[in-house]
Amino acid sequence: MNDIPRDHQPDPADDHDHDRDRLEGFLEGFRALLDRVNSLPPRAHAGLTPLGQEVEAHLGTAGDQLPLVTEDVPSHRFVDLDIALEALAGPDSRLVGVTGGQQREHESLPALLASPYAVFGLGPVDFAPASTGPTTQRQTVAFGLRLFTFDGVPVAVLQRASRREFGRDSARLEVLSPDRERSGRVLTEVRRLMLERSVLRGQVLSFSGSDFDPHVGGAVFLERPRVSAEDVVLPDGVMASISRHVVGIGTHRGRLSAAGRHLKRGVLLYGPPGTGKTLTVRHLVSATPGTTAVLLTGPSIHFVSEATELARAMQPSIVVLEDIDLIAHERGRFGPQPLLFAVLDALDGLAGDADVTFVMTTNRVELLERALAERPGRVDLAVEIPLPDAVARARLFRLYAQGLPLSEDAIEAAAHRSTGVTASFAKELMRRVVLVAAEADRDVVDDDLSAALDDLLSAREALTRSLLGSGEGPSGPPPEPDVAGWVAY
Ligand SMILES: Nc1ncnc2c1ncn2[C@@H]1O[C@H](COP(=O)(O)OP(=O)(O)O)[C@@H](O)[C@H]1O
Ligand SMILES: [Mg+2]
Repeated sequence: MNDIPRDHQPDPADDHDHDRDRLEGFLEGFRALLDRVNSLPPRAHAGLTPLGQEVEAHLGTAGDQLPLVTEDVPSHRFVDLDIALEALAGPDSRLVGVTGGQQREHESLPALLASPYAVFGLGPVDFAPASTGPTTQRQTVAFGLRLFTFDGVPVAVLQRASRREFGRDSARLEVLSPDRERSGRVLTEVRRLMLERSVLRGQVLSFSGSDFDPHVGGAVFLERPRVSAEDVVLPDGVMASISRHVVGIGTHRGRLSAAGRHLKRGVLLYGPPGTGKTLTVRHLVSATPGTTAVLLTGPSIHFVSEATELARAMQPSIVVLEDIDLIAHERGRFGPQPLLFAVLDALDGLAGDADVTFVMTTNRVELLERALAERPGRVDLAVEIPLPDAVARARLFRLYAQGLPLSEDAIEAAAHRSTGVTASFAKELMRRVVLVAAEADRDVVDDDLSAALDDLLSAREALTRSLLGSGEGPSGPPPEPDVAGWVAY
């Protein structure tokens, strides 16, 4: 190192030259290194998993090098997705499962194809049953890879159901194809088929507030109710005006659209509990076969944006928001905005030409009035469903006394005595009439009606009356029925 003569004083300029030489030498070497790196052949795909090799054989190139296009699909559309993909893939496609335990849940498709850590191989396909109607099911592919050709080009599509325990709330589709544009076209076609073949269209659906099924879930199919107009006792003209708005606008949609009129409509039914708001809605759904009806009650009102999206896609449709007063002060899922505003915004977000009806019911309209007034235009028909008057009570008593040998006079007298009671009271009253007769082991007689009425009108039964939904109780509305209540009556 010490090659500088002792008698020679070091010159700072020499030092400088020396440093520059060293730097240039280093840069020269570094450039040579880069040239070497650049001239290497492309790295062999040594990291391909057995699954990756299979996919490579199908695609003609290693899949982990291709652009990945993903799409999230809400759980309630997963069956549609499964059907659409099966149709798109066609009979010549291959469907393979993936091994690798839980690890595969955390990896995207390219990482399943080439991984230095885990060995993902071909395995059995994961199937999960999902409803396709009130009484029908389908085995959907909850985790599986479809290998097929689209427009003559090989593609690989991984489909996975939602798995909440792995932080995935929606189903996911991952598409590998030679280019992004083509993957985009695969997705467009999947979306088109999902709409065209949807099992949800024309069905009566509700959203389950909680998603117990870890694989699929979200939408629950209900039988379409059968409630005729005669089954609902309302003041004259009330049902006709509701029906005209909900059913009539749909019937005349062609003319209305041609005249540039909007089809979207919002109906609010309000009045004391037990007066027939839910029953009215059930009649409306019954009177519109083929209409997609989405029912949201209680906690499932959180799904209002999903329901609206569904209603938009599956027109003509009805979205029922039962007892929205229950959520009037609740906060939405996404931030401090009251859930009620989210509901009103959803209504507003729909295009005017959408053949979608929103029907909202409430026992306590006073809680909503301000919010509704502040955002005008969402509700274009508000109808009070009042407590039945004496005439309506007589009709109700007659309706629920069907098949019982009760005289007209006895029914009229009972209707007269029972001011302030609701229709659900009438129903319970007639059950008790039958019970009284059954206990005495004989047929029903008029006296059973007055006895049952005495009983129900007694002070002892004040709470019962309140729970049957009379306007009298101080205790507010009864706990509202859930979806089961909606279909059980
Ligand atoms: N207007 C009515 N006409 C006939 N039955 C009625 C009427 N209102 C209520 N009922 C009976 O009472 C039950 C509960 O009424 P519901 O429609 O749920 O009341 P709410 O107004 O609280 O929604 C109905 O299923 C039906 O059997
Ligand atoms: Mg109700």
